[in-house]
Amino acid sequence: MSGLYDRHKAVIPDWVALYYKDPLEITHGEGRHVWDADGRRYLDFFGGILTTMTAHALPEVTKAVAEQAGRIIHSSTLYLNRPMVELAERIAGLSGIPDARVFFTTSGTEANDTALLLATAYRRSNQILAMRNSYHGRSFSTVGITGNRAWSPTSLSPLQTLYVHGGVRTRGPYAQYTDAQFIEACVADLEDLLGHTRDVAALIAEPVQGVGGFTAPPDGLYAAFRRVLDRHGILWISDEVQTGWGRTGEHFWGWQAHGQAGPPDILTFAKGIGNGMSVGGVVARADVMNCVDANSISTFGGSPITMAAGLANLSYLLEHDLQGNARRVGGLLIERIRAACAGVDAVREVRGRGLMIGIELTEPGTERANPDAAATVLEAARENGLLIGKGGGHNTSILRIAPPLSLTVAEAEEGAAMLEAALREL
Ligand SMILES: Cc1ncc(COP(=O)(O)O)c(C=O)c1O
Repeated sequence: MSGLYDRHKAVIPDWVALYYKDPLEITHGEGRHVWDADGRRYLDFFGGILTTMTAHALPEVTKAVAEQAGRIIHSSTLYLNRPMVELAERIAGLSGIPDARVFFTTSGTEANDTALLLATAYRRSNQILAMRNSYHGRSFSTVGITGNRAWSPTSLSPLQTLYVHGGVRTRGPYAQYTDAQFIEACVADLEDLLGHTRDVAALIAEPVQGVGGFTAPPDGLYAAFRRVLDRHGILWISDEVQTGWGRTGEHFWGWQAHGQAGPPDILTFAKGIGNGMSVGGVVARADVMNCVDANSISTFGGSPITMAAGLANLSYLLEHDLQGNARRVGGLLIERIRAACAGVDAVREVRGRGLMIGIELTEPGTERANPDAAATVLEAARENGLLIGKGGGHNTSILRIAPPLSLTVAEAEEGAAMLEAALREL
């Protein structure tokens, strides 16, 4: 592998970080497993950052892509595109947003960028509320609203961003409160902030923070926020790039954990829907989506081949009730992980819902992040044949577990045992 690693370092930017001391080249996958260039098999509990949503090499998706590639790969937005219209219809219906319009992009970054363009144009304001510890993408506008220093390389921004409390339940000034007090304090903070601003365009939030380490507020926070936002006419953007499509088990969209809020004004998605094909997008009410009064296209967004993949992948997800599977198998997995972590001093918290589970590691007996422990477990898990991820604003000391949603009970048990063995390295 070292030959390829040297070549990688010679031509790829330093800031594209690789996992593992001896980086891994994944050559193929099947189901919930992947293989490296030496032929070693791994159980994949990270799915290429929550992107292989149903399964690796899912025959239905492979067939749809191959057939579409044999017909036409690209035609442009100048012509009618049947797979794009079909996927837009299905997503509009699933979104919960009335009279929804869907615009396809090639990434989550571009989806959020579009959402910001819509909200700022609709509200004629460049002020955005974002959550602390958030991540929304890598473009100039999205790093400007990302509340995680490790992923935001510049403070220059076309937007003025104000950061709100609430995305992280068990750290920060309100951590010791009950859920109800926590929500009340965050709402008071939001009200106070709005008292010092004028004409904010939108609040953008991930229902469960992904890169931030699978942290979430108590259910109902965004409903309470919504009541305040509505009074000011401020739009709510739900960034569902990681939480969409049933990943959290109980809900199809992450915002539904705050059900009383009703659907957001704008919803963004990416990652899982294409199962690895580059599909992102934004859904919004017609009056919000259509407020832009200039032409706009994405050359590759909505390309027939990516839409064919998205349609086949979404059909498989719905026909096999993978949301239900995420709830059931995720429930079992988090129980097993809690048991594996019991008695491990470095584990501060195990949290998550569905197949989105985080393990926060600290220096034993303290609140200090422990990135070394996270790196140790990541390496040991790999040695045992299990791929997991890392995250967290706190020096990446949170282990992230997010397998494809078709995970079986046997694989959950097997992975939990591998993880338990890896945690023993601590
Ligand atoms: C919540 C969230 N929003 C946006 C993005 C950006 O998506 P992409 O990497 O497809 O541009 C990510 C990527 O990790 C994400 O987790």
